[in-house]
Amino acid sequence: MSTDIQVNQEKLMELFGSVFNDVAGSMAIMMSYLGDQSGVYRAMDKIGPASVADIAKESEVDERYLLEWLSSNAGRGYVNYNAATEEFSLTPEQAAVFARENEPTCIQGLVQGVVGQFVKEDVAVDVFKTGRGRPWGEHHECCFCGTERFFRPAYAGHLLDEWIPAMTGVEEKLKKGAIVADIGCGLGTSSMLMAEQYPNSTIHAFDFHGPSIEEAKKRAIEKGLSNLEFFVSDAAEIPKNSYDLACIFDAWHDMGDPVGIAKSIKETLADDGTFMVVEPMALDGLENNITNNPSSSMFYGFGTLICVPASKAQPVGLGLGPQAGPKKLMELLSSAGFSNVELAAETTSNLVFQANN
Ligand SMILES: C[S@@+](CC[C@H](N)C(=O)[O-])C[C@H]1O[C@@H](n2cnc3c(N)ncnc32)[C@H](O)[C@@H]1O
Repeated sequence: MSTDIQVNQEKLMELFGSVFNDVAGSMAIMMSYLGDQSGVYRAMDKIGPASVADIAKESEVDERYLLEWLSSNAGRGYVNYNAATEEFSLTPEQAAVFARENEPTCIQGLVQGVVGQFVKEDVAVDVFKTGRGRPWGEHHECCFCGTERFFRPAYAGHLLDEWIPAMTGVEEKLKKGAIVADIGCGLGTSSMLMAEQYPNSTIHAFDFHGPSIEEAKKRAIEKGLSNLEFFVSDAAEIPKNSYDLACIFDAWHDMGDPVGIAKSIKETLADDGTFMVVEPMALDGLENNITNNPSSSMFYGFGTLICVPASKAQPVGLGLGPQAGPKKLMELLSSAGFSNVELAAETTSNLVFQANN
């Protein structure tokens, strides 16, 4: 074939090697998921260097399957193998990534989110080919808990200590006693963090996905939080309670009509209220983003499978995507009528905007 003449073998093998590595990585993700769901990583973290038989006993999994799984993990550098003792183990770093839920580096939520997409791959193909919307609730449940587990470390690490203090006058109000709306709250992690930190404030948390709200309610009851209430509600129908703070965490771009929703949120705010929008980290401009933002490929992937279809399933169906970038996001907030829009904070994972009347 004439096109073969133009193939540069070196570049071809480089691309092939890179994609082969991604495929091996996909298998490693599935191995990571098995280890998380079966509790093997946690068992290994608990007992230290051990034989396959001892790890199988501690984690109550089949010994032969476990040997194959451990070998795959060891080949990928996810666990260690000591040939002299024939024992497998986790380093502290491997434990922080695979075994320990509360470490900011725990990767298992992200793994769960990706695996959830493979589970319903036929739906993904149908959505992609037809261009139809795909409501949030049509995803496998791994999508909901994976999303929560993925975002939780960033919220736990930054929301109370950096993001809220970065916004003018907000922290003082929350300490004294403010009324807050957390919109598109999912399983309510951000709502619970605020309710715990600011007992004088009242948090109203809204999401239109009923099962997520049910789960969030259970979690809040377990924590004994009495200043937090959950509601099943579309973001466009938030009651006009003169909120001091309305916030949306990693969900504004999932909405069909982000500008229309920002306009209606503006009407629910007190005159001196603040609208806080937290979005995934992104840079301005496609070329800049794909070249200089190491997370962009992953987020465009989630955008293809989850965020753009979720938006297209709602009225207007703007399909903003999770990588719109700060300039575009600030333009949209201004076009909703907010006169003061600022990038208040940024971390490796998120952009935080503050919008005031
Ligand atoms: C990516 S999740 C983020 C959830 C949560 N804020 C978090 O950070 O863990 C997006 C959430 O937005 C919700 N959502 C999307 N569009 C919505 C709308 N129009 N009204 C209310 N909730 C919406 C979804 O149900 C989902 O729970």
